Amino acid sequence: MFQKPPFIIAIDGPTASGKGTLASKIAQALGFEYMDTGALYRGVAKTALDQGLDPAQEKEAVQAAHLLHKNYDLSLQNDPTIRTERVSKGASEVAAVQEVRDILFMLQQDFSTHPCAGVVMEGRDIGTVICPNADVKLFIDASSEVRAQRRFKQLKDKKIPADYEDILKQLHIRDGRDSGRSIAPTRPAEDAVILNTSTMTAQEVLERSLEIIRRKRL
Ligand code: DC
Repeated sequence: MFQKPPFIIAIDGPTASGKGTLASKIAQALGFEYMDTGALYRGVAKTALDQGLDPAQEKEAVQAAHLLHKNYDLSLQNDPTIRTERVSKGASEVAAVQEVRDILFMLQQDFSTHPCAGVVMEGRDIGTVICPNADVKLFIDASSEVRAQRRFKQLKDKKIPADYEDILKQLHIRDGRDSGRSIAPTRPAEDAVILNTSTMTAQEVLERSLEIIRRKRL
């Protein structure tokens, strides 16, 4: 039914930049399929923790990645148990291991090439490593204070106790780990459109992104 390869939209950006919400809204608007690639790293960390393995130990992280690869299902990205603080920390540890990234690369590549109209993939290295030939590349950024404020509000809205200063501190630590690592650091691809969303509403970011995508799909 689908003769052409899927239209690929790569969305990268740091923690709490709003790229997840944006990516799923774009997929919905265009009828495309959506992959949250952070869920894969979270899945590896969760698998490790469930099996009594230590995500901070390279060999054990690789073992967990093999297990995840064997049992992977896209619905993992909807599992709330991969969003805990403990799993988030483990995810940023396993994400720094090249062999783990290689194992997850295959899952991501399969997704980006399977027959369908289009895919939206969101993460840290989609435009640079996973889909360097993506049709549209967006890099979603915002100041750390704005990102911390958004995360704070999200938690408050869900009635989860939260401390702004603590969130900001954790965000700096995670940014440092994700951007400072030598393997696949978070950075925009040379041909990515960078959207600094610090002063934009979520709706404005969505409209601007759809405008950019429509121009490329003409
Ligand atoms: O986007 P997230 O917070 O769910 O990502 C979880 C961790 O995985 C985070 O430390 C960054 C890392 N990650 C990555 O290294 N590469 C990706 N493509 C996606 C996420």
